[in-house]
Amino acid sequence: MPAYSASAPGKIILFGEHAVVYGRPAIAVPVLQVRAKAIVSVDPRSFPGLVKLQAPDIGLETSLYDLPENHPLAAVLLKAAAAMQLSHIPACNIKISSNIPIAGGMGSGAAVSVAILRAFSASLGHPLSDQQVSEISYEVEVIHHGTPSGIDNTVITYAKPVYFVKGRRIETLRVKRPFTLVIGDTGIQSPTSSVVSDVHKAWEAAPAHYEGLFDAVGATTASARKAIEAGSVDALGPLMDENQAQLYKMGVSSPELDELIEVACSSGALGAKLSGAGRGGNMIALVTPETASKVAMAIADAGAVRTIMTEIPKT
Ligand code: MEV
Repeated sequence: MPAYSASAPGKIILFGEHAVVYGRPAIAVPVLQVRAKAIVSVDPRSFPGLVKLQAPDIGLETSLYDLPENHPLAAVLLKAAAAMQLSHIPACNIKISSNIPIAGGMGSGAAVSVAILRAFSASLGHPLSDQQVSEISYEVEVIHHGTPSGIDNTVITYAKPVYFVKGRRIETLRVKRPFTLVIGDTGIQSPTSSVVSDVHKAWEAAPAHYEGLFDAVGATTASARKAIEAGSVDALGPLMDENQAQLYKMGVSSPELDELIEVACSSGALGAKLSGAGRGGNMIALVTPETASKVAMAIADAGAVRTIMTEIPKT
């Protein structure tokens, strides 16, 4: 039985989450140590049209036609079939696995969509372009999140650092000097849709205050872009602290995130902030190769359920 597999990385947002939903820029990078994987096996002997889906990590074993059309896994396949102008989806088995934390701000949903789209379209001899993969993943993100900015599907599809402004052409970012981050997982699942919706309610209640905060985030992100492109890694730490203070004022931090951020900074990180939607999920700390292990151990001792060290390479 021929099998086609594809994988997609996780991601972290370095600067600009939430404000990016309101048109301000954000910076995101792929995290290659965590991935979602899809294996599509085409089974010519199987019942015509039977599409079996297995995701053992989340205990899911079903068939496409048993899922509602707006289930993210059904939507990704139906949208791919429409993009490929298929009259029906041929019988196949699709196995999905992922070690990206679910609802942790690392793009698990978008990575699953990207991996399925690539493996599924390859199995049909009709590989979708990066632009199609990103667009379809975005449409599925709308089902997951309601009003996504599009940053997750973009950084995960292209697997490169991006400077992202909603509705604009993708801009990849030149990283002049590599830098190292420690990612710490609070272990608290925090669905992006509910945090984004809470920020929206708060923005509706106090638009001038929130617009001011989003402008400040936009300015911080623009400075961070300059620092990354100039190789001024030392300047990034204080900018991360500044962005964290803005996110705190937006009401998207949490005591657990605050604790890990504080511990990271007091054990030698150059700066730290939450990453993604907040209220749980992951935080990131800028470290040097010398301080990385100490910071990772300190945040693990302070309650992080998982730590990942990742280097953002020169591009
Ligand atoms: C989620 O990874 C980042 C948010 O800014 C939402 C989005 O951009 O769609 C919170």
